[in-house]
Amino acid sequence: MTQVGPDQSASLEKTIARSEHLEKELVANPAKFRVLTGDRPTGNLHIGHLFGSLASRVRLQDLGVETFILIADYQVITDRDGVGPIKERVYSLVADYLAAGIDPTRSVIFNHSAIPALNQLMLPFLSVVTDAELRRNPTVKAELEDTGNRPMSGLMLTYPVHQAADILFCKANLVPVGKDQVPHIEMARVIARRFDERYGRVNPDQPVFPLPDSLLSQGGAMILGTDGTKMSKSKGNVIELGMTADETAKILKKAVTDSDRNITYDPVNRPAVANLLLIASLCLDRSPVSLADEIGDGGAGALKRITTEALNETLKAHRERRTEILADPGHIHDVLAQGNLRASDVAQATLNEVRTAMHMAY
Ligand code: TRP
Repeated sequence: MTQVGPDQSASLEKTIARSEHLEKELVANPAKFRVLTGDRPTGNLHIGHLFGSLASRVRLQDLGVETFILIADYQVITDRDGVGPIKERVYSLVADYLAAGIDPTRSVIFNHSAIPALNQLMLPFLSVVTDAELRRNPTVKAELEDTGNRPMSGLMLTYPVHQAADILFCKANLVPVGKDQVPHIEMARVIARRFDERYGRVNPDQPVFPLPDSLLSQGGAMILGTDGTKMSKSKGNVIELGMTADETAKILKKAVTDSDRNITYDPVNRPAVANLLLIASLCLDRSPVSLADEIGDGGAGALKRITTEALNETLKAHRERRTEILADPGHIHDVLAQGNLRASDVAQATLNEVRTAMHMAY
């Protein structure tokens, strides 16, 4: 995880306050926003995503906000030597999007490796940042640590720049992210501003690129692994959306709890117990405190039974749809192809403006 230093925590507070304001604006004025959000296809989505990013995307879509959903496949080659079974992962992502209620006729699902005009923004964007700025980006530092401190590749160093291209190609003005990604959004703002200063405009009243805001994610982002620590595949503490009900029951049976039979909701002192309560309460749409009161002296056994039943019931329909969708890879292919076509049109229009601003439209 990214360490947040003292100078950043002030700006994080500002970002949180601004996110709250933007939440209200989204409801009042959905047409003012274009959202870009995305996932790296490095693994399968889990329950934290369902209650967090997926729920929030469906909500934005249903509010009428135009949403671009990026599958950041090129980003996979920044942090690992091989790409793994990438096609399978991309298809798994699309299946979870559709199963969660993302409607590909309203939201654009695309992958950035398929959009040449998006990638062409890299060169002008690279021209307005310095290598020192890139080296001190806290997210780049954290990403590098996650790779076991292998030597920094040029692609890793410029990670914030391609992420800026992902956001700015479609002129998104709102990017839902976790707080570890906020420095990237800051970088996208810097790039948008400097592009305007250095290369100018097509329309004198309006910069080519809007300044994107972060929208800090809530809800599902709080869900931990079944051992009460951050979810991570390598720790075996993740409940993936694609798991069966039996697999879910098994992993919850092994979930960490503690020896106090009296169940209370205490995220600070009893994170693992609190996490199970949180999962069950999100599924049952009630407060974790009242659920804890109800279980009382029932102990970890009752807590796990309730959580397993609630979660399997909540995931049932998602899992059925997911299985159905994955059985028809031709449909997934078509969804991506259509999204890529729409994203390409948008990227090409932006690139044309960039060329005009740069006096390179011959
Ligand atoms: N880096 C993001 C992640 O790890 C994924 C991503 C790539 C992204 N490009 C983006 C997120 C642009 C928001 C905007 O989750």
